[in-house]
Amino acid sequence: MYYPDELIEEVRLKNDIVDVISGYVRLQKKGSSYFGLCPFHNEKSPSFSVSREKQMYYCFGCGAGGNVFTFLMEYENYSFLEALKFLADRAGVELPEAEYSEEAKKRAGIKAVLLEINKAAAQYFYVQLKNPQGQNALTYLKERGLSDDTIKAFGLGYSNKYSDDLYRYLKSKGYKDELISQAGLVSVDEKHGVYDKFWNRVMFPIMDVNSRVIGFGGRVMGDGKPKYLNSPETMIFDKSRNLYGLNRARTSRKSYFLICEGYMDVISLHQAGFTNAVASLGTALTAGHASLIKRYVNEVYLTYDSDDAGTRAALRAVPILKEAGITSRIIRMEPYKDPDEFIKNLGREAFKERIHKAGNGFMFGLEVLEKSYDMTSPEGKTEFMREAARRLAEFDEEIERGNYIEAVAAAYHVGHEELRKLTGRMAVQSGLAKPVERPKAAIKREKEKENGVQKSQKLLLTWIASDEHIFRQIERYIAPEDFSEGLYRTVAELLYEQYENGGPNPAAIISRFADEEEHREAASLFHTRIRELSTAKEQEKALAETVMRIKSNSIEEAAAKLEPTDMKGLQRLMEAKRELQNLAKLHISIN
Ligand code: UTP
Ligand code: MN
Repeated sequence: MYYPDELIEEVRLKNDIVDVISGYVRLQKKGSSYFGLCPFHNEKSPSFSVSREKQMYYCFGCGAGGNVFTFLMEYENYSFLEALKFLADRAGVELPEAEYSEEAKKRAGIKAVLLEINKAAAQYFYVQLKNPQGQNALTYLKERGLSDDTIKAFGLGYSNKYSDDLYRYLKSKGYKDELISQAGLVSVDEKHGVYDKFWNRVMFPIMDVNSRVIGFGGRVMGDGKPKYLNSPETMIFDKSRNLYGLNRARTSRKSYFLICEGYMDVISLHQAGFTNAVASLGTALTAGHASLIKRYVNEVYLTYDSDDAGTRAALRAVPILKEAGITSRIIRMEPYKDPDEFIKNLGREAFKERIHKAGNGFMFGLEVLEKSYDMTSPEGKTEFMREAARRLAEFDEEIERGNYIEAVAAAYHVGHEELRKLTGRMAVQSGLAKPVERPKAAIKREKEKENGVQKSQKLLLTWIASDEHIFRQIERYIAPEDFSEGLYRTVAELLYEQYENGGPNPAAIISRFADEEEHREAASLFHTRIRELSTAKEQEKALAETVMRIKSNSIEEAAAKLEPTDMKGLQRLMEAKRELQNLAKLHISIN
């Protein structure tokens, strides 16, 4: 943390959350809260609430929540420091520059210069495209069907045939060799000196969500190799955490993204009105991409190339997306290679139709599988159905499995009941065929238990942060040390401290976490709910169980750490275990 907590708190208190969010979302007062349409997911009736009293927001639909800093970090994709600066500015609070550590200042400084250099380069390339020397490049783009507006919107450009004109331009603007090279725009070699990386190519600036240029892709005009040359990863360009076109797609207000493979696909799709298209730029889709996508939508349509590589890439992306809670559908481009060619040949209406017809990821996997069987012979089709049943058997959840069995039976014209039986047999068979699964199951159980305890701790933090009556009843039994080391314990300590000094203030706790991941997690600690608990009685029961689980986990952990010679520790542990038995009879009342 570079700034003192008091200063951060001052900035937070001077920026009323209702006022700030009103700049982005239309809010209406209802009771003691304000409600509006959630900007983080697509919805028709307002479930996004902002509380002036608590200085927090929360969406009952998607679970997004936090304080005024969290909101800006999520909405504007600011880092914590950027959000702090923005709000300090807004409220006229001066942030002392000197509070930065030297190292942090240097890094922030370098990043800012790299962004400037990339921006200057993008402007330079754009101007070259419009000058006489860019005539061929402009013709190339026009022949590929791009309008002037599209070229401008995506900031397309041209890198000249000279080998060092960009370098000289950047030097003339006062940038040092070392930084120009760190931006990835030049190569340095002992024999030839410094020369431009991009040379006689059409240039595609790559932007982050806030439309800042962070790198480039350059395409040869014609058949040269490599077809595309890209900026290397730099301090500001991380390929696994950026998606081409996201800066525009995020404001499209569609409930899903179209994910494709290439620069030209994104541009063609946008030009045809599909402004929710993004691309992962030739690299495989990563978990980083998935969590970035999840900030905006819960569903994607994969529109990868129709060749084998594209098909495999789509099949690999499905589970990665699923892991992040995103469902995928797959759009086929046959008989064309990619969305760009498809649209050029068949137009936007035909593409819309393909969106409508998109199948889900699982069914697509079967369609691919089908190709390796002779579906016209009874033997071939039987073999195929066996494999399909084997895959169906892998759905853990019964309802989901049932739904898929139904869909597959209908698609391949086989009896629903027969397929269900076959799936059952396959489940047994593969169960018997894989006796070595045991250790894995044990690991899974271990993990589930860990998650269970975490969930309990989160739940209790939400409860005690929002209700003093509950806090007073449990503080006798649960101390901050009973929470897992790290974030949870720190948050518990702060919360207990606040109760000592006036009252709970989760919004102030969240600001203590400047690291983006930690900040998000801290914000989520105050919004953990179990929807199914409706009556007070159910809640009381769950609360008692939660306290019990946290305490017994804490005792177990202490026991595991105990030295065998530590008699005092052992005594304390026995004591705690006795108390735990009393705790089993605990009744906590909710109001
Ligand atoms: P494709 O080869 O499918 O190209 O690569 P494309 O997007 O259809 O391009 P056009 O239509 O021929 O101009 C898909 C993506 O993979 C990356 C690029 O991001 C490209 O858009 N790629 C491809 C490279 O980085 N380098 C290459 O040499 C080729
Ligand atoms: Mn293409």
